[in-house]
Amino acid sequence: MIDDDLSLLLEFLRFPSVSTDPSRNAAVAQCADWLAGQIRDAGLSVEVIPTPGHPVVLAKNSHVPGRPTVLIYGHYDVQPEDPVDQWDSPPFDPVIRDGVIYARGATDNKGQIFAHIRGMTATIREEGELPVNVIVLVEGEEEIGSCNLESFLSTHRDALKCDVVAVSDTGMIAPGVPTLTYGLRGIAALEFRIKGPSVDLHSGIYGGAVRNPAVVVAQLIATLHRPDGSIAVLGFYDDVQPLEEWERAAWAQLPLGDAELKAVTGVSQLAGEHGYSGLERIWGRPTAEVNGIGGGFQGEGSKTVIPKEAFAKLTFRLVPNQDPARVLKLIEAHLRMHCPDGVLLEITPGHTGESYVADPHSKYGRAAQEALRIAFPGKPLALIREGGSIPIINTFKRVLGVETILVGLALPDCRAHAPNENFPVANFRAGIALNRALLMQLATTSESPGASSR
Ligand code: BES
Ligand code: ZN
Repeated sequence: MIDDDLSLLLEFLRFPSVSTDPSRNAAVAQCADWLAGQIRDAGLSVEVIPTPGHPVVLAKNSHVPGRPTVLIYGHYDVQPEDPVDQWDSPPFDPVIRDGVIYARGATDNKGQIFAHIRGMTATIREEGELPVNVIVLVEGEEEIGSCNLESFLSTHRDALKCDVVAVSDTGMIAPGVPTLTYGLRGIAALEFRIKGPSVDLHSGIYGGAVRNPAVVVAQLIATLHRPDGSIAVLGFYDDVQPLEEWERAAWAQLPLGDAELKAVTGVSQLAGEHGYSGLERIWGRPTAEVNGIGGGFQGEGSKTVIPKEAFAKLTFRLVPNQDPARVLKLIEAHLRMHCPDGVLLEITPGHTGESYVADPHSKYGRAAQEALRIAFPGKPLALIREGGSIPIINTFKRVLGVETILVGLALPDCRAHAPNENFPVANFRAGIALNRALLMQLATTSESPGASSR
């Protein structure tokens, strides 16, 4: 049934709030204003605060001394919809097929942050107020590295003072399995460009006498990995924190093994660093990926040309103790060392974000586990780390001094960042129930006299 919760989510999904695309700036701003209106309707006071990039939506209920303050964080920006011809329905025209919502942002992160907002709306309507002090922070730049949020946190440190952060922007290991994520990988991005001849050249007239920049890009990419799947960048593993034996044992028991990973990714064989399972490689080991590669003729058919330049876009996922800035320097040195003569190598460092690991059994972790049990009754709970990155989570720890509980509802086949991104209506509704249970459980973590000592 399409009730208010669902029809408003579909409205939210119609904004093409692609943060990386300047031609979408107006849509991003409209999306922020619309979201602020929704939060205001819930009964919170809300501001849309400009930044040098996209605005931040910041809201709060009226705070009562002695109650815990929970900062709920999410993002209203989305990844580009490319390749648009691979969608079964238009990315910004949401449809529900077989109980599943299809749209860019359905799971990452509009469906999940909106579940929190609708959960709070329902609680305030039914109970008159929320059981805790709440700050809602929804940014528009998560998908491009939260470039302006760290300085926003520093500038608004007093307004953002809280006891714990709650985020639903992660996944569940399988449908219906309540999942608490206690770790995320970090990230370091860079782009490199190889410049060769001063103009595009006929590949018959000149081919054989000059270096082809597209070939050099391929050669440099090929230097990143050793045959055993490890990363060949000097010093890359220096600070890597090894996996704990208890984690390896626990992860081996989860209902997401190599067979499931093969099925959900559609590959005939998994690949990666030797000596680790699929989950260990994704959650606990660093990686190097090529996200894009370009240069030369991209049209249909053939064109015999040596392109004057070519490029690649890389990201490295990082694990605890790796410093993203140091890793970027190591990679830069690696590329310079391997680049042949006769071409120019230009490197543009990109965004970075630190990894995050928390104790799932801290008092907030235990409250989150209890809330998950309430929202998913009778289901065994999974404690996991994940391979994705939410760079601001570690910044919350560093700048605001607080831990984050990650209670996401994305499914392994949610197609985040890809065509046909989707979010089951049931997960959206579970998210609303989870918000209500979570705020109730977090209310019991208060250290004020008379409160539970959990
Ligand atoms: N929601 C994801 C992060 C995520 C995905 C965490 C799956 C855990 C499991 C987030 O929106 C995201 O995509 N982050 C980017 C960050 C980057 C652009 C700095 C990512 O991980 O690529
Ligand atoms: Zn994302």
